[in-house]
Amino acid sequence: MSWITALRRRPAAGYAVVLLGLVTVGMAYGALAGQSSPASAAVPGTVSPQTIAQGTSLAPSLIGVGAAAVDFQMSTGRMPGKDIGPEMDRRPVTFTPGQIHAIAQYIASLGGGPTVPSAAQVSTSGANVALGQSLFITDCAQCHNFDGAGGALTYGKFAPPLTQATNTQMFEAMLTGPEAMPVFSDTTITPAQKRDIIAYVTRIRAEPNPGGFSLGRIGPVTEGIVGFLGGIGVLVFLAMWITMKRRES
Ligand code: HEC
Repeated sequence: MSWITALRRRPAAGYAVVLLGLVTVGMAYGALAGQSSPASAAVPGTVSPQTIAQGTSLAPSLIGVGAAAVDFQMSTGRMPGKDIGPEMDRRPVTFTPGQIHAIAQYIASLGGGPTVPSAAQVSTSGANVALGQSLFITDCAQCHNFDGAGGALTYGKFAPPLTQATNTQMFEAMLTGPEAMPVFSDTTITPAQKRDIIAYVTRIRAEPNPGGFSLGRIGPVTEGIVGFLGGIGVLVFLAMWITMKRRES
């Protein structure tokens, strides 16, 4: 054992041990990581549809996102994405409803996820608009504003105005939570409550803006604050102006 002690005392021994350790860990990691992704070893040409839908370095996996997410993203023109980036605005739709349906069904066939709601599921006849309003204020207004006009979020993101979405798209947005929007599953907001929210959003669209500064149409509290602060500001200004006049004389 004296030869080990002799080696250990050498100045380079410390570096050699660290290097050996790094190489060992690296090789062990390489062996394990290689095993866990057999798809990377697949020969081009024999790639299965599932492998393609698993996503790439540019885009996420589509397995399990469900038909509702595909229908929402494609029917609002967000997908197929023109540029890779965080901006996912509405764009003109280049696919027919039939094509979107076919792609949505295909993605759904790869595994689960929420389905596209039927026309009856998104119908707002008999919906409770008042309940829809209170749900909207608790769950949606912090991002989409009280009147659904949309608003800025953190990190340069924004929540779009809810002026264009169809009933189906609104239902799907809640079910699938696109981008920075949270998912509102059927246990968080029941399908009936989703219809109430949709009824409220369509109702406020139809309400004409009375004109002037809408102040986000948040209601009497905002109007009161603006009136009070604005009014006080004018009074302070007037008071200063009056005292200035006095000193001059
Ligand atoms: C944390 C913020 C946030 C909350 C809360 C939120 N959303 Fe969103 N919502 C977003 C963002 C961000 C987008 C845009 C996603 C994208 O572009 O991919 C969006 C998109 C939408 C769209 C699609 C709009 C369009 O026409 O393209 C609808 C509809 C929608 N939300 C409805 C709702 C409803 C209803 C609620 C409440 C149940 C809600 N959102 C709650 C952030 C939010």
